[in-house]
Amino acid sequence: MTDRPLRDAVHFFGRFLRSPGSVGAVLPSSRYLARELVGPVDGLRPGDTVIEYGPGTGAITRRIAEILPEGVAYLGIELELSFVRRLEQRFPRLSFHHGSVADVERILVERGIARPGRIVSGLPFASLPREVQDAVVDGTARALDDGGEFRTFQYVHAWPMATARRFRAAMGARFTRFTRLGPVVRNVPPAYVLVYGK
Ligand SMILES: C[S@@+](CC[C@H](N)C(=O)[O-])C[C@H]1O[C@@H](n2cnc3c(N)ncnc32)[C@H](O)[C@@H]1O
Repeated sequence: MTDRPLRDAVHFFGRFLRSPGSVGAVLPSSRYLARELVGPVDGLRPGDTVIEYGPGTGAITRRIAEILPEGVAYLGIELELSFVRRLEQRFPRLSFHHGSVADVERILVERGIARPGRIVSGLPFASLPREVQDAVVDGTARALDDGGEFRTFQYVHAWPMATARRFRAAMGARFTRFTRLGPVVRNVPPAYVLVYGK
């Protein structure tokens, strides 16, 4: 581990201890999960926007920054202010919003962002309060562009949980396409990647 991943892991774990429900994991995602979660970006065109939910310390953001096509914008929406500050320093070319993704539609309107072609989520859906889960599912389905893709992950151990099943049922009712990828075992803990399209 180089200094940055170690510092990120320590900061992330500290935030997990303070807010276990919203942080939802003890460590940032691995680069293997990041690669699978972000997926291919060749369908994105100049003028499109990629939205990231819950970028945390930037494990997924780093992958997005590496492959974001020229002319495609990025906005990360993060609840935890200390994460936002670090992300702004680390990725000065990318934009971050301090707030809740439950307000995604309002945030996009305020920032003049048309419907995004890709939403990538690192949110711990299974451990989010029910009303936040519902607001995110509805807001995401309405905000995403036709033909767009929503990609998220669920930890393998959490897959059978009632809250995780509830999330998948709600998504299934709003999206026409669904694919499960993985599990990505080189991640702590191992995770499936869920890809929804409409
Ligand atoms: C499981 S961590 C994932 C962090 C990072 N994406 C990664 O994969 O390492 C979940 C992140 O979502 C953020 N989060 C939780 N609820 C949120 C909400 N309602 N709106 C925006 N961010 C939220 C947490 O602060 C945390 O940074």
